[in-house]
Order: sequence, then structure tokens, then C-alpha cells
Amino acid sequence: MSALQRPEPRPGVLDIHAYVPGKSHAPGAARAFKLSSNETPLGPSPKAMAAYRAVAEHLQDYPDGAASDLREAIGRAFGLDPARIVCGAGSDDLLNLLARAYLRDGDEAIHTTHGFLVYPIATLGTGAKPVVAPEKNYTADVDAILGAVTARTKIVFLANPNNPTGTYVSFDEVKRLHRALPPHVLLVLDAAYAEYVRRTDYEAGIELVATSENTVMCRTFSKVHGLAALRLGWLYGPAHVVDAINRIRGPFNVNAPAIAAGIAAIEDTAHVERSVVHNTRWLAWLTEEIGKLGLAVTPSAANFVLIHFPQKKGRAAKDADAFLTKRGLILRRVEAYKLPNALRMSVGTEEANRLVVAALREFMAHGAEGKTPPPPEPASEGDEW
Ligand SMILES: Cc1ncc(COP(=O)(O)O)c(C=O)c1O
Repeated sequence: MSALQRPEPRPGVLDIHAYVPGKSHAPGAARAFKLSSNETPLGPSPKAMAAYRAVAEHLQDYPDGAASDLREAIGRAFGLDPARIVCGAGSDDLLNLLARAYLRDGDEAIHTTHGFLVYPIATLGTGAKPVVAPEKNYTADVDAILGAVTARTKIVFLANPNNPTGTYVSFDEVKRLHRALPPHVLLVLDAAYAEYVRRTDYEAGIELVATSENTVMCRTFSKVHGLAALRLGWLYGPAHVVDAINRIRGPFNVNAPAIAAGIAAIEDTAHVERSVVHNTRWLAWLTEEIGKLGLAVTPSAANFVLIHFPQKKGRAAKDADAFLTKRGLILRRVEAYKLPNALRMSVGTEEANRLVVAALREFMAHGAEGKTPPPPEPASEGDEW
């Protein structure tokens, strides 16, 4: 059968490199520590787990398609009007819906060199063209983004902080970007890691959304709330954007267990605080200890670090990845993000963090063969998490 005799996807779809998630397995290792998807090492709030379990009694019922209780809980937590919130099956869902609503063939959507991979995927899926704005020091560069704007630009996607670099753009810079964008361009501020940021010059973007007609902020329950498995995210946007997204989203795009767990999670502020305190402590520790091994670590404001390896046989990122995986320590290769010489590591439990640093020390000293055989010892009872 010739290609013309069978259904063909729209132009752009077959240009997509399908997203490859972080590895979950370390074959042969006695224990595995998954540090490849920026999940929280503390897990979800026990209250969220209880709320999730309670819904098991009612699985025959459709969820509330408007996710009203959840939007109200988010509204209370952040002081936002629930009518300007849309929930999605992860923020991935919302990023794709924004692309579908605002991009058409021939349009352009800008993201930065090492920006989150869902942006080009969502863009190409609509027939539009992803345009890459260069970064400076692994950080989004507002002038480069503005330089990439053309008459065809319809969306600017900015992950702040960005994954996989962990770098962020100050709120002043975000506002400067917004001021200089033509008013018909939608600025999508993807603040998936906002809760972790401990910087006085950072804002996730609520104020900008509240005071403009062309800014949207996306958030997720997958990171600090530990609900990645449930697929839950939300956006806060101008009323006209909320209206457009509500017209095209799946009528039940958020499931009932996710709604119930999400409400409990956002109300358990003590659990969020514990997660952030853990992250702040171990992010600093990892950055310092890995730096002492002679490896460059990009300063991160999020819950992961980007570790740069020398381009030296036996000491390269792919050698380190194989070395660590054999020991059950699963980090993320990031070639797809144009970072072939780096690995991304999520901040883990104390035990996992210490094991990675010890393994990297051995790797740097002795190379891929190491000195001691894998795998890591089982945890002792005194371990913190
Ligand atoms: C920058 C960024 N945005 C969005 C997401 C997607 O999150 P969700 O699980 O809500 O789809 C991620 C997940 O890794 C991310 O890193």
C-alpha cells in the first residue's frame, strides 16, 4: 500500500521525537533508587493517600468534570479566583491544550535551548514550528527570546525554573519579557518547580497573570505534592484563555482519585514544608559535595541538579550513567535536551544522596571499572527516610 492510500498524520507529527521518560530500573542491582524523574523522595501527604483510597468505594461514578472542589482548594491556597483555574491530567495535558488552542499550521512557538521537551512536542503536534531561543549559562535569556519573536509567533513557553537545568529567571526579567512581547503572543510560565525555589527575586507569575491578558501560569501536583502517578496539574489564566481551554479539554480530563488526593495534598501545608526543607538542605549538600569531586554542577533552584562530566573516555556522562546504574542509582541522561555531557539527578532521600556522592567519588577516582563491586548495601535502620 502506498503512503497516500493510508491515513496520514498532519505535517509535524512525524517530526516529533516521542518523549522518553527517565529510566525506572537498574537491572541486576539489589536495590534501586530512582532519581531520574524529579519525583519527591518524601512521597505524598498521608492525607492525600487516605483521600485517594476513599474514592475506591465510588469508582462507578464519573468525576466532577469541572473539578470545582479542587479549583476552590487551589484558589484558597493561593488567593486566586477558582473561575480562572483549569485543572488537567498533569501539566502536560494543559501545555498540549494551550498549544492546540493557540497554534495552527505555520505559527511559531518559542522555547529555549534546553527547555522542557514537551514544548516542541506540543508545538509540532499542532502543525506549528518550534523556534529555539539560545540560552546563556544554561539559563533562559530574555533578549534572545525577544530576538526570536516574529509575526508568526503565538506562544512563548518558559519553564521557570527550567528542567533539566534547574536555572531560573528573576521576576523582573519575566516582566521585562512580558512587556516587550506583542499582546497577541501568549506567555506560558511553566512553574512546575515553583514551591522549591528559595530566591527573593523569584515569582511563579501569579501577579503577571492577574494583571495581563496574555500570560498563563501552569503548575503541577507531580513534584512537591508527590502525586505524579495520578496526573494532576492546573493553570491560572485570563478569563478568555480559561474559556478557550475549557471548550477543548476532555470533559472529564481529571479523574476522581486525583481530585480527592489533590485537595488533601494542597491543604497539607506541613507536608509541603517538610518536602521543601528536605530539598533545600540536600540540594545545597549535593551541589557542594559533587562540586568537590571536580564536577561542575549548574546552580539549581529546583529539586534536581545538572551534573557536567568531562568529555574524557571512561569519565564521560554515559560512563557515569552505566557506573551508577549498576549500583542501583538511576539518574537521567539528557542528550535529548542537547546536554550529552551531563546527567540530571533528582534530590533523593539522605541515603540515596549519600550513595550517589560516594559512587561518583569512586567513579572520578577509579573510572568506569570502580574499585568495589556494586550493588549498594541495604539501608540501616537509622536512615532518615
Ligand atoms: C518544566 C516541567 N513542566 C511540566 C512538567 C510536567 O508535569 P506533569 O507531571 O504535571 O505533567 C514537568 C515534569 O517533569 C516539568 O519538568
